[in-house]
Amino acid sequence: MNTPATETSIPDLLQSTMKAHVAGQLDAAGKGYKLLQTLAPDNPDVLHLSGMFEGQQGSRERGHELISRAIAIDGKQAMFHNNLGLVCVRMGRLEEAERCYRRAIELDPDRFDAVSNLGVLMGQLNRLEEAEKTFQDLLERVPRFSDARQNLASLYLRTGRFSQAIEQCAKGLLTDPRNPLLRRVLGRAYADVGLTDLALELYRKWQQEEPDHPEPRHHIAAITGEGVPDRASDDYVRATFGGFAETFDAKLASLGYRAPALVGEMVAELLAQVPDKSLRVLDAGCGTGLCAEQVARWARSLVGVDLSQQMLDRAKLRQAYDELVQAELVAFLRTRPACCELLISADTLCYFGRLDEFAAAACRSLVPGGWLVFTVEAHDDGEGQPDYKLYHHGRYSHRHGYVLDVLSANGFADMALREVVLRQEGGKPVRGWLTRARLPQEPAAHE
Ligand SMILES: C[S@@+](CC[C@H](N)C(=O)[O-])C[C@H]1O[C@@H](n2cnc3c(N)ncnc32)[C@H](O)[C@@H]1O
Repeated sequence: MNTPATETSIPDLLQSTMKAHVAGQLDAAGKGYKLLQTLAPDNPDVLHLSGMFEGQQGSRERGHELISRAIAIDGKQAMFHNNLGLVCVRMGRLEEAERCYRRAIELDPDRFDAVSNLGVLMGQLNRLEEAEKTFQDLLERVPRFSDARQNLASLYLRTGRFSQAIEQCAKGLLTDPRNPLLRRVLGRAYADVGLTDLALELYRKWQQEEPDHPEPRHHIAAITGEGVPDRASDDYVRATFGGFAETFDAKLASLGYRAPALVGEMVAELLAQVPDKSLRVLDAGCGTGLCAEQVARWARSLVGVDLSQQMLDRAKLRQAYDELVQAELVAFLRTRPACCELLISADTLCYFGRLDEFAAAACRSLVPGGWLVFTVEAHDDGEGQPDYKLYHHGRYSHRHGYVLDVLSANGFADMALREVVLRQEGGKPVRGWLTRARLPQEPAAHE
């Protein structure tokens, strides 16, 4: 990127900065936007694009401020309002986001991305009828808009209206046959209603067309029970959460997601007598960092580890972690012996079947007397139940007795499992085990 000598080259600099931004050359893009703000502080395009960049990569507050300034200078650009809405969603300012999207649509009724964003937002706010109507009207106008089709199908899936979800996906796949999101929702909907043959057919066709795609492989194993991996592959986890990071917090909130709060409650019970800011805390599978505030009171330092860089990027924006590491969590724990007094993991070990490697690594990473608090999904302990099961939705559940056995075999004591509801899915509660365990003060002798 060339540095401009005069203001006349601002359009060129803007162009090359945008190019760097789109290509993911973030350092170059960041420098370009900074320079542009100095050279053309009142140029609305500069303010808008710099704000978008800040909202994605840096500070959401700064992003909000810059786009608002662009709007104050030129309030007639629907795109500015739409993008301010996106930044508001990331900041959790959902009512303001709604106003922004509506203003964008008022200015330009053909701004279909703003209409779709509004539909997604209605869904996040649990205004489900409005969300449905928004997508339906949009799809009447633009039947080939796959994102809107997939969002409507997901809405039906979430509310247990499986045949409508299937119908929407089938329609969408007619015009966009390889759309992975439509395939994902359709496979899930088929399996949810017991049409496992159709789900399997879909995943096999997908696998044939994209042999390296981790999703069909994982779901075929879940349905057939053949080749079930010990845990979800790194690629599967990255594929699942990569595209989900932006909307994770709002989406999960609308599903009554409680895993971080439950971990927080358990930690608060255990640490009632422990002085503030006295512990080194490790958050395994930290995602967007929803657990940070739950443990902040006790954390002298807080380290987060996660496989998904996009999730970590969101966690970084909270400015609550001393260190955020992109790594597979068991591999990471093995590199950090005796590094923490408290290890937490919310809604992450449901991507693990076998828990022994995790338990052994956690034992090494905790100091004697250290606490482990985590959630897994639950299935019953009845006769003949396997230790863990991989379900067609792609997550594992665990047997109560297995969790206890693994922990005690790996040196933990003082274990307790509490039955909890982690969130709602398809209108039904997802049951879990909120689990705690402690290492003895003196390490027990075990292999
Ligand atoms: C459902 S999210 C939960 C995130 C966060 N703990 C929370 O409660 O909001 C699960 C997270 O675990 C991460 N994950 C799953 N398996 C992992 C592994 N083996 N190593 C590291 N991260 C993993 C995913 O990338 C994702 O961010």
